[in-house]
Amino acid sequence: MERLLIKDVLSDKFIGKQVIVCGWIRTKRESKDFAFLIISDGSTQDTLQVVIPHEANCSEQIQKCNTGASVKIKGFLRESPAKGQRYEVEAQEIEVIGESDPAKYPLQKKGHTLEFLREISHLRPRTNTFGAIFRIRNVLANAVHNFFQDRGFLWVHTPIITSSDCEGAGELFSVTTFDFKNIPRKDDVVDFSQDFFGKPAYLTVSGQLEAEFLALSLGNVYTFGPTFRAENSNTTRHLSEFWMIEPEMAFADLKDDMKMAEDFLRYLFKEVTLKCEKELLFLQNQYKRISPDEISKLSDIAFTHITYTEAINELKKSKENFQFPVDWGNDLQSEHERYITDKVIGGPVIVTDYPKDIKAFYMRLNDDEKTVAAMDVLVPKVGEIIGGSQREERLEILEERMRKTGISIDNLQWYLDLRRFGSVPHAGFGLGFERLVQYITGMINIRDVIPCPRTPGEIGF
Ligand code: 4AD
Ligand code: MG
Repeated sequence: MERLLIKDVLSDKFIGKQVIVCGWIRTKRESKDFAFLIISDGSTQDTLQVVIPHEANCSEQIQKCNTGASVKIKGFLRESPAKGQRYEVEAQEIEVIGESDPAKYPLQKKGHTLEFLREISHLRPRTNTFGAIFRIRNVLANAVHNFFQDRGFLWVHTPIITSSDCEGAGELFSVTTFDFKNIPRKDDVVDFSQDFFGKPAYLTVSGQLEAEFLALSLGNVYTFGPTFRAENSNTTRHLSEFWMIEPEMAFADLKDDMKMAEDFLRYLFKEVTLKCEKELLFLQNQYKRISPDEISKLSDIAFTHITYTEAINELKKSKENFQFPVDWGNDLQSEHERYITDKVIGGPVIVTDYPKDIKAFYMRLNDDEKTVAAMDVLVPKVGEIIGGSQREERLEILEERMRKTGISIDNLQWYLDLRRFGSVPHAGFGLGFERLVQYITGMINIRDVIPCPRTPGEIGF
């Protein structure tokens, strides 16, 4: 007989049938005639109640059934006569697989703070909160692939180690095999010709540049992989290692790009409400941040579009006391983004046509020569979840922008080749996966939606 998952066992189909389930004990309670265990196995938000009659002769095992221990239970599923759960298993055999010392087990029945749980990231997936978050993450990851695969996009694998700085922001982690005690130097500067790759190498900040060459041969592609930013910002929405989804489409302009981003988000909102009902409800009850209904509504609405210039005008009109100055030409800070989403629009919004000086070199210059064909998708509470643009497909203009922004033309000759040989209008965007999960789960801190958060000064686990 095979082990069943709790998510599958809890159904009328198994009533009266013998089942085997395995899991970890949340609690144990004993009465005169019975011992009761609550166990979970990560397959569902639900826990399973196991009732062990004392005559079952398991007393030695019951002694070892402490919170945190792992168990294998064989018994019959039945409707529970008591309140609190619909089904329960009446155990015939119980085996403690791995014991747990209740005096030392860090997860106690009383609620723990999210900060404390971050210190035990290796055990927090056993809690209701993190079980819910990681199951939601899984459903969303699968939905990402389904969305693009259904539309004929190829999943491409862009490199993790690269020699270019796609965003041009200099927030790069170096990759080197130099012996730090003895770094080779020539004319008083580091001699990278002696390093592993013969020149400076970094962890990628984005797979976009490579996705562009793949799109300009294969049509429509997307990446879904880890990206790294050595950005020294200790905020609730920045990670040093995060996952990004970057579609890139040939023969597409900014309008097509925005449409794709909207369709994509709507699809993800729909999938998650269909497949994670229990998880979303649990998180809403626990944290009172976002309801499954709100997310479900998002899957139907059209997003509001405004230009950067209109956003600046709205911010200027407001009576808010912003920490950062509001001036045409300055980047929107998260306080500004939140004002626009939460107070002006009251929902997700796409902001377009940002000043060229605050955006990356590859974005297509608009006819006004001051702004670029960029778009950011902002959502309430979180702010920017998508950044994208139409790409500059005109060789001379791109070269000029690279020169002005200090991007190495020598290093990116291959990128310019795409404009030399069969250039076409093309566009794409990047969705920050953790920002999406953060928005949908309502978690305040992005560190709580990824198993092992990496942030400045933090690399446990
Ligand atoms: O706006 P960004 O920097 O855009 C790019 O990287 C483009 N190459 C994307 C493209 O056009 N293919 O980053 C895209 C998204 C942001 O909107 C945000 O959601 C997320 O990535 N992001 C981060 N998420 C967590 N921690 C960080 N430090 C992040 N930086 C960006
Ligand atoms: Mg951005």
